[in-house]
Amino acid sequence: MKKHLTFLLLWAITLPLFAQTPVYLNPAAPLEDRVEDALQRMTLEEKVAVLHAQSKFSSAGVPRLGIPESWMSDGPHGVRAEVLWDEWYGANWTNDSCIAFPALTALAASWNPEVAALYGKSIGEEARYRNKNVLLGPGVNIYRTPLNGRNFEYMGEDPCLAAQMVVPYVREVQKNGVAACVKHFALNNQEIDRGHVNVQVSDRALYEIYLPAFKAAVQQGGAWAIMGAYNQYKDQHCCHNQYLLNDILKRDWGFDGVVISDWGGVHDTEQAIANGLDMEFGTWTNGMDWSKSDSYSRYYMAQPYLQLLKDGRADEKILNDKVRRVLRLVFRTNMSPNRPYGSFGTQEHAEAGRRIAEEGIVLLQNNRNVLPIDLSKTKSILVVGENAVKRMTIGGGSSSLKAKYEASPLAGIQARVGNAAQVTYVKGYESPAEREQDVKNAQEAQLKTIDAKALRAEAVEAAKSADVVLFIGGLNKNGGQDCEGADRAGLELPYEQDLLIAELAKANPSTVVALVSGNAVAMPWVAQVPAIVEAWYGGTEAGNAIAAVLFGDVNPSGKLPFTFPVRLQDNGAHAAGEYPGDGKSVAYRDDIFVGYRWLDKEKIKPLFAFGHGLSYTTFQYGKAVADKSKITASDAVTVTLSVKNTGVRDGAEVVQLYISDKKASLPRPVKELKGFKKIRLKAGEEQTVTFTIDQTALSFYSNVNGAWVAEPGEFEALIGASSADIRATVKFVLQ
Ligand code: GLC
Repeated sequence: MKKHLTFLLLWAITLPLFAQTPVYLNPAAPLEDRVEDALQRMTLEEKVAVLHAQSKFSSAGVPRLGIPESWMSDGPHGVRAEVLWDEWYGANWTNDSCIAFPALTALAASWNPEVAALYGKSIGEEARYRNKNVLLGPGVNIYRTPLNGRNFEYMGEDPCLAAQMVVPYVREVQKNGVAACVKHFALNNQEIDRGHVNVQVSDRALYEIYLPAFKAAVQQGGAWAIMGAYNQYKDQHCCHNQYLLNDILKRDWGFDGVVISDWGGVHDTEQAIANGLDMEFGTWTNGMDWSKSDSYSRYYMAQPYLQLLKDGRADEKILNDKVRRVLRLVFRTNMSPNRPYGSFGTQEHAEAGRRIAEEGIVLLQNNRNVLPIDLSKTKSILVVGENAVKRMTIGGGSSSLKAKYEASPLAGIQARVGNAAQVTYVKGYESPAEREQDVKNAQEAQLKTIDAKALRAEAVEAAKSADVVLFIGGLNKNGGQDCEGADRAGLELPYEQDLLIAELAKANPSTVVALVSGNAVAMPWVAQVPAIVEAWYGGTEAGNAIAAVLFGDVNPSGKLPFTFPVRLQDNGAHAAGEYPGDGKSVAYRDDIFVGYRWLDKEKIKPLFAFGHGLSYTTFQYGKAVADKSKITASDAVTVTLSVKNTGVRDGAEVVQLYISDKKASLPRPVKELKGFKKIRLKAGEEQTVTFTIDQTALSFYSNVNGAWVAEPGEFEALIGASSADIRATVKFVLQ
């Protein structure tokens, strides 16, 4: 009896303590218990308040309950500088200069999921340190046309590559208690008419090409947030879209996170309520600049929603589902128990950025082994081109960054060469000044006239006497180039670079072209130039990464994440159409034949193929061997082959697996990427590479029964160093 009394007494004493710590504040409580407990404590006003912005990049918490605000920040390549509460202008903080990481095309070009993990970890630590609980990135929209102004923010033309690269990025960002917000869901593949264009696409193309990277981000990456796209699909804006958000994302994929609108992507209260939106941001803005000030209470999901609820004309069950998702976001981030503290602007992150940039650089051509440059034999180097000095971490739209520093290609080359050779620089060509980028004020811009002829003549004259000419050109982040809000007008390089490159090559046979860009370009001079490198936008350490490759400290191992067509008409969106549509809608008549899938179908030779990238060493592929010649739907075939480094330098090779369905009941691409492995091989070393192929790799999406189907019949595994350089094949049958 005494024991029981003691127990009761103890219980009576401790109970009030527990009663004082509500479940939602108990970090050890299960997530869903915390969500339910907080939800039932919130008033109607508090519930509505957390569903929409209160400033440019923040939404309300619940002060009464000690639930903090949510703070979002762009972007996919680094944490954007702080802007004023209710303005797009910078807040001029002195402690928000970030490390700018390479553009996501460079990450995709590394074909290395470990590098994607390093990227996510580094940018996640930066976002955490800046106290953001949502990073507005990565972007995984598929590269359909080379003209799309935002391709540089995405991961290329192939769903398998984008899917495998986005997962580690998301996982690692979120280990910092920061939500990745994967964007722009979905079908935002052009900037022209982006705010409303109604995309018409078959279910097959939607499921086989445009959704897989998002699905992987959600189901394998565990993404806590998704950003709706600006455009429409099936006549509904993607930020409130029954099909994409309620049916596919939340019902079919089981997404339990928040759907955040793009800035200005919400257009209607009832649709926002009914069609899957959870958080409204940036209304009455184009997402980049102008907007009504202090309009937040009038947002579609603010007062109008509250009024409907008060009038009993909106279902509180739907409201509660949205609020649960916001609370889940908060408990996974700001109120998560074991949240690290992050780090910002560190040398470690700069080195991570450099490694990503180095692994992403693609050696496109290297005739006569002009590269790497041998400084023991090179006494004078002429560097030509505006992109050798132009800052690329700023501009381009919402991914623009205030970088702590940016090593330009010229600076990187000068630092690397030291006094081993004489480095001279001439501009060669010049782009018109941009409002926020290159001029201090409008007057200077008007005064600035560009004498292209004189610039070119000066460069060509200087080229005659140099041992090596390094032309650093490409595109830039100016409007109409690699920039949000517009598409490029054509495939050609701008600012008369083609003319200059051709003349430089005539003046000096050792002319190397390094392109700083995020999109494919035409290269009419490709036969005149011995060596070409795609260097992407490399971020803070860009110049040092480019120099490391050009001078051979790093053996390039990047592979193209998208096709470089010889001409625009060789691309499916332009050959089959439509692009850019009629201003209201755009029909993806190229359907599933996006990128190399189109060129294979039409038997068109690309300028440089998807998956292409050379090395300073050579790799020999052995015979591909399958462990069985027949498989059933429930088992898999294992294909192995050896790869040997037959050169004199250590290097890395991306071994690519494509699958070809030899006989299908409906049109299928000639081959499709279904796997890849990046292997490091010392000079002379040989490794065995293994691919396991099950029926998911053999399936297509059937419009008929809305499911993935692997049809019995003959298949072929094609293993290659690029989509156009198949080194081994092996056939097998699905019974
Ligand atoms: C922009 C972009 C989006 C960005 C958002 C906030 O318009 O479309 O990617 O995250 O608005 O800047």
